[in-house]
Amino acid sequence: MSRLATLEIDGKKYKFPLVQGTENEIAIDIKTLRAVTGGVTTIDPGYKNTGSCESAITFLDGEKGILSYRGYAIEDLAEKADFLEVVFLLIFEELPNQEQLDKFHSDIKAQSLVDEDVRKIIDAFPKSAHPMGVLSSLTSALTAFNPSSVNVDSEDAMYNAIVRILGKFPVLVAWTLRKKQGLPLDYGDNSLGYIENILKMMFHKPNEEYVQNQVMIDALNKLLILHADHEQNCSTSTVRIVGSSHAGLFASISAGISALWGPLHGGANQAVLEMLEAIKEDGGDTKKYMAKAKDKEDPFRLMGFGHRVYKNFDPRAKIIKAAADEVLEDLGVEDPILDIAKGLEQEALNDEYFVSRKLYPNVDFYSGIIYRAMDIPTEMFTVMFALGRLPGWIAQWKEMRLRKEPIGRPRQLYIGETHREFKTIKNR
Ligand code: ACO
Repeated sequence: MSRLATLEIDGKKYKFPLVQGTENEIAIDIKTLRAVTGGVTTIDPGYKNTGSCESAITFLDGEKGILSYRGYAIEDLAEKADFLEVVFLLIFEELPNQEQLDKFHSDIKAQSLVDEDVRKIIDAFPKSAHPMGVLSSLTSALTAFNPSSVNVDSEDAMYNAIVRILGKFPVLVAWTLRKKQGLPLDYGDNSLGYIENILKMMFHKPNEEYVQNQVMIDALNKLLILHADHEQNCSTSTVRIVGSSHAGLFASISAGISALWGPLHGGANQAVLEMLEAIKEDGGDTKKYMAKAKDKEDPFRLMGFGHRVYKNFDPRAKIIKAAADEVLEDLGVEDPILDIAKGLEQEALNDEYFVSRKLYPNVDFYSGIIYRAMDIPTEMFTVMFALGRLPGWIAQWKEMRLRKEPIGRPRQLYIGETHREFKTIKNR
């Protein structure tokens, strides 16, 4: 028998069905709420309790610290998979066999040229521009050189749009870095693997041969997998809501990049490193910054701590912390910032303020330390996050369009002035 939730308003009872997900989560289906109650809505700032869609891509249990993509545990994927396999899994629902993966990679490579005119756009940005602003603009600019909309009823058109953005996006990422560093813009090397090609595009110098480093390849592979999707977070919800107006894939992803930029979301990886640097410069007194984070009069927050959904350890943070140790050791980097990070973490995990609020390190507490060891400038960290999150955005956009979801349009509770008589300007 189907289960129902009862809502009572002014003595009148309304029944709503309970729906259950495959992991036994339960939601109250309030699709008919306004119709049956004569206009009552719900109010839920930040959507803390509101499910915006049904999705079969990513599952996370914030209480237990579980994360899986299409049923595969993040720990297994981070340890055993290649990023491109995970990209395929997220977008096309199954892990690819070798033949499928080879075809997918070759189709992506075939789309890895960016129109030369895009260089003129990037040239117009000052070197001081933040790479996230540049990346969002360039992604949006791609609509000028590619079909701006996708016929989602055609499997071929959908596939072509997907491989197109997967081919061109890493070039844009590399160009934002090269622009910042005053290096010539060029294209990758299609004889290389997806990750190897990204590293070469980012780091090679025009006057010397680029030598691949397996530690860097493995570290980037892991970081991109860990960032690849995270269900209905701020940037993904943005991609879905922009796409729900039937805006094209590139435009929707460009909006997602802007949403990711903020320090409460993807921008946290940059903010964490800047915070750790500031603590180091200030003599390394972690207790002072712990006190600032707890002081309600002080706007300072411990960046890289806390999460809207995880009220237990972020499983990605555990993997990244171990990876940070390994990568620094393998690359022979000694970074005092890692010690400050570990010290802060220990203090927070034993502090009543953080314990009672269930604030644990999130994915970005340690990721910046790895990026820094890889010689990636701090302002590029969120761009690297975007590179990892791209397949998640694509998968979520595709799912939203194929499920023919309605345009996203929340309600509000109006709290402004009621009717006022208009006075002409000389009478005010
Ligand atoms: N430092 C100090 N106090 C914190 C922190 C923090 N990092 N995070 C939350 N709190 C406190 C809040 O002040 C609040 O305290 P109160 O109950 O006494 O008022 C309580 O914990 C709950 O915090 P909210 O802001 O209500 O939680 P919310 O779910 O809205 O925010 C968020 C989650 C934005 C991630 C928050 O924890 C934060 O700002 N963290 C720092 C930024 C960060 O690391 N963001 C990256 C998130 S992961 C990602 O997007 C990839």
